[in-house]
Amino acid sequence: MVEGTTEIKMMGLRSNIMTLLLHLLLMLASTAKGQSIFDITTYGAKPNTDITQALANAWKDACASTYSSKLLIPMGVYHLNQSILHGPCKSTIEVRMEGTLQAHPDPIGDGLVLFQYIDQLTLSGTGAFDGQGEKGWEKNDCHLKKICTKLPMNVKFSFVTNSMVKDITSLDSKNFHFNLLGCKNVTFQNVTIIAPENSPNTDGIHVSSSEVINIFNTRISTGDDCISVGDSNKQITITNVTCGPGHGISIGSLGKYTKEKEVAGVTVKSCKLINTSNGVRIKTWPDCAVAYTASDLHFEDIEMVNVSNPVIIDQEYCPSNQCNKKIPSKIKINNVSFKNIRGTSATFVAVKFICSTVFSCEGVEVTDIDLAYIGTQGRITSQCRNVIPIITGKQNPRACVEAAPVNSPSTD
Ligand SMILES: *[C@@H]1O[C@H](CO)[C@@H](O)[C@H](O)[C@H]1NC(C)=O
Ligand SMILES: *[C@@H]1O[C@H](CO)[C@@H](O)[C@H](O)[C@H]1NC(C)=O
Ligand SMILES: *[C@@H]1O[C@H](CO)[C@@H](O)[C@H](O)[C@H]1NC(C)=O
Ligand SMILES: *[C@@H]1O[C@H](CO)[C@@H](O)[C@H](O)[C@H]1NC(C)=O
Ligand SMILES: *[C@@H]1O[C@H](CO)[C@@H](O)[C@H](O)[C@H]1NC(C)=O
Ligand SMILES: *[C@@H]1O[C@H](CO)[C@@H](O)[C@H](O)[C@H]1NC(C)=O
Ligand SMILES: *[C@@H]1O[C@H](CO)[C@@H](O)[C@H](O)[C@H]1NC(C)=O
Repeated sequence: MVEGTTEIKMMGLRSNIMTLLLHLLLMLASTAKGQSIFDITTYGAKPNTDITQALANAWKDACASTYSSKLLIPMGVYHLNQSILHGPCKSTIEVRMEGTLQAHPDPIGDGLVLFQYIDQLTLSGTGAFDGQGEKGWEKNDCHLKKICTKLPMNVKFSFVTNSMVKDITSLDSKNFHFNLLGCKNVTFQNVTIIAPENSPNTDGIHVSSSEVINIFNTRISTGDDCISVGDSNKQITITNVTCGPGHGISIGSLGKYTKEKEVAGVTVKSCKLINTSNGVRIKTWPDCAVAYTASDLHFEDIEMVNVSNPVIIDQEYCPSNQCNKKIPSKIKINNVSFKNIRGTSATFVAVKFICSTVFSCEGVEVTDIDLAYIGTQGRITSQCRNVIPIITGKQNPRACVEAAPVNSPSTD
C-alpha cells in the first residue's frame, strides 16, 4: 500500500499548503500595506453615539498586535469624552481617522485623545478632532490669572517617539489643540488647525520637553499662538506654516514655572503670517521662577501680511499684569537671527527687542528686513533695550532706531 500512503501524505501536505494559503489570503484581505486592520465599527462604534468603550477595545487589540496595525475610524461623527491610548505597543501602529471625534460640549478631563508612551505611531487621515470649544472658552481664565482653570486639549502626545501626524484637522479645541510633552522625533505634516480668533488659549501646537520635532506644510488659524515652543526643547524645526489669525509663532513663554530648563535650537523657516497680533516672537516672563538659557533661535524667509509686532523679543511678557515687571527676566537669550523678513506691519513699531536688564540679549543678528507699515499712526520704526544687534543687508526699518520706552504694553 505504498501508493496509498504516499497519497495520504500528499493530501496532508496539500491541506497544510491550503491552510497556509488561506491564512495568507486572510492576512492580505485585512491588510492594505501588510497591516492588520482594527475598525472601531466592528467593535460596536456607531456614528452619533459615544464610542469610548469601542475605541478602548479596538486600541487594546491593535496595540497588542504583533503585526503592524491600523486602527480605523471610518467616516461619521463619533462622540467621545476622553480616551487614553496608552503604549507601548507590540508593533508599529497607525490611527487612521476618516471620521470626526467630537468632544462633549462640557469640559471633561485633560483632553479628547491622549496618546502616551508610544513608539512609531502614525496619526493620519482626512478626519478631525472637534473640541466643541464654546463652553470651555467661557470658563478659560488662563490669559488673566496665573492659577487658572485647566481645560481639556484636543490631542495630547506624551512620551511619543519616532512618530508622524499628517493630513488631519483639529477644530475648536477648548484649550491647546495639540500638546507635545517628552516627545522625540515627531513630525507634523499637512495638518489643519482652526478655531475662532477670539477663543482664549487655543494654541495650535505647543511643544515642551521634546526634541527633534518637525512641523511643516501646516495651516493654523486660532485664538492664541499658532505654535508655541516652550521650555526644555531641542532641535525644533518649523517650515512652511501659514498662521493667522492668532498670536503668531512664539518661542515661549519662558520662565513662568520653577522646573523649566533650557531651550536650544529652534528654526522657523518659510512661514507666512496673516493678520496676527505678533509675527515671530521670543517671550519670557519678568519675575522668573528660574534662570536658564534660550539659544540658537533662527527665523528666516518669513512673509508678514498685516501683522502687529512682526519681529519681537519681549522679555517683559506679562499679559494682564499678572507679574511684577520691575523684576527682570532671568532667561538669557543668545545666538538669535532674523533673516529675510518681508511684508506689511499693522503697527508702526515693526521691530522690537526688549531684553532683560540682568542678561542682555547676545549674538542677535538682523539681516534683510523689508517691512511696510500700513497704518496711519506715524512712520515705521524699531525699538530696543539691552541689546546691540549685528545688522546687515536691507534694513526697513533699521533695527534699534529708538530706545524702547519703559513700561511699554505687553504683547498678548
Ligand atoms: C460623558 O460625559 C457626560 C457628561 O459628563 C456623561 O453624561 C456621560 O455619561 C459620559 N459618557 C461616558 C461614556 O462616560
Ligand atoms: C493634505 O490634507 C488634506 C486634508 O486632509 C488632504 O485632502 C490632502 O490630500 C493632503 N495633501 C497631501 C499633499 O497629502
Ligand atoms: C524618526 O521617525 C521616523 C518615523 O516617523 C523614522 O522613519 C525615522 O527613522 C526616525 N529617525 C530616527 C533618527 O530614529
Ligand atoms: C507649503 O504648504 C502648503 C500646504 O499648506 C502646500 O500646498 C505647499 O505645497 C507647501 N510648499 C512647499 C514648498 O512645500
Ligand atoms: C485680515 O482681517 C481683516 C479684518 O478682519 C479681513 O477683512 C481680511 O480679509 C483679513 N485678511 C486676510 C488676508 O485674511
Ligand atoms: C548659533 O546657532 C546655530 C544653529 O543652531 C549653530 O550652528 C551655531 O553654532 C550657533 N553659534 C554659536 C556662536 O553658538
Ligand atoms: C489689519 O489688521 C487689523 C487688526 O489688527 C484689522 O483691523 C484690519 O482690518 C486689517 N487690515 C487689513 C487690510 O486686512
